[in-house]
Amino acid sequence: MKDKAILTYDGKSYELPVIHGSEGDKAIDITNLRKDIGLTTFDPGFGNTGSCKSSITFMDGDKGILRHCGIPIEQLAEHSSFVETAYLLINSELPKKDELERFSSMLNDHSLVHEDMRSFFENFPRRAHPMGILSSMVNSLMAFYPEIPEKTEDEQINITFARLLSKVRSLAAMSYKISRGHKLVYPSNRLSYCANFLNMMFDSPVRPYVIEEDLVHALNVFWILHADHEQNCSTSAVRLVGSARVNIYAAISAGVAALWGPLHGGANQAVIEMLQLIYDSGGDITPFIAKAKDKNDSFRLMGFGHRVYKTYDPRAKIMKKMCDTVLKQQKKNNPLLGIAKRLEEVALKDSYFIEHNLYPNVDFYSGIVLTALGIPRNMFPVMFAIGRLPGWISQWRESIDDPHWRLHRPRQVYIGAKKRDYVPIDKRV
Ligand code: ACO
Repeated sequence: MKDKAILTYDGKSYELPVIHGSEGDKAIDITNLRKDIGLTTFDPGFGNTGSCKSSITFMDGDKGILRHCGIPIEQLAEHSSFVETAYLLINSELPKKDELERFSSMLNDHSLVHEDMRSFFENFPRRAHPMGILSSMVNSLMAFYPEIPEKTEDEQINITFARLLSKVRSLAAMSYKISRGHKLVYPSNRLSYCANFLNMMFDSPVRPYVIEEDLVHALNVFWILHADHEQNCSTSAVRLVGSARVNIYAAISAGVAALWGPLHGGANQAVIEMLQLIYDSGGDITPFIAKAKDKNDSFRLMGFGHRVYKTYDPRAKIMKKMCDTVLKQQKKNNPLLGIAKRLEEVALKDSYFIEHNLYPNVDFYSGIVLTALGIPRNMFPVMFAIGRLPGWISQWRESIDDPHWRLHRPRQVYIGAKKRDYVPIDKRV
């Protein structure tokens, strides 16, 4: 029967509606399963659970396809800027010239961070990881900018989005400067979004930063490649926390916290540390490949594998090309790139990686691009977070506007102790 799935359970058959997505995705709607049949579903890690309908990002993990609002990632990386891609994600359409100008000037208007926030930075221990600091700082934005409109169709919501996009970038650069004990550099309205970031990071009273268009372009592409990735761990965190109707800053702060993990946004730092370890131990990749394949060893080849992509991550292809281009333009040689390429070559021919569908993901080459930009390793996940912001904002907006929105509250299958009585402390054995 078309558009219905039949579930037979306990001698009875039930019809479950099948939902069709615009790119051929099909999903069984189990919203009423528990009410009608008394069953819940079991899907650890939500690998097969569609938590929402979304019109922002489409990905096909088997074919290695990624599109934002219909536009392939390859085209965005080649022709767009990060600011334009952010506009696309948040507004579902590419901006016209005047719209892009307005959006860019809003980003400039809201780039300054409240001076009182500086004292927060100064009280974090110097060794604190920048992702923990960023998550706290984003959460604290609510205290400084509490005027968030109730409805997302209110024009004022764009100011909140601009604040987030612009200030998170400024906060990230501030955290770096403070960690180095250096003088802060303020954003400048004369510079583009990406150039501004590089300038805030690297300009100094003793050595003015010279902006190089090649590096600005590389940063644009890096951030475009990270801009959204449908219902990944951090985006799901934003939607889940946002579903309790917390303010957007709290929801995004949860996204930053989730992204920090080494299996997610922290992987780019973990990859470069792994490549460095291989380099420091003489450059032989064989023992590392063997460790990654060993069931009794928890070591994983960082930057390999993906929950959805069972083929080459399309972003990794672009990132790999970007590595070669940037290093050539900068006339630099990074021996870690050679190690990465050797690892990829060997892994792609190895039966373990083939059978497990393990291919390079976006993080495998991104650390080398970031190193060429001069970004320190502990800031890599922060760079990912700035890139993912437009995605978090657009997914938050979509979830708030969803007419079927409900508080996110998964079920469980309880496997603990059956009912038993409380035992007073002196009677416990
Ligand atoms: N190296 C070696 N083996 C791996 C790797 C890896 N990188 N990734 C998965 N496997 C193996 C597992 O050991 C497991 O093997 P088994 O079935 O024989 O026990 C099998 O592949 C499936 O692993 P899962 O963890 O169940 O796969 P899942 O889809 O949940 O994991 C993940 C995806 C977390 C990304 C995983 O591939 C991984 O840990 N990769 C390394 C970290 C990384 O690069 N993260 C970045 C992801 S992309 C992003 O967030 C931007």
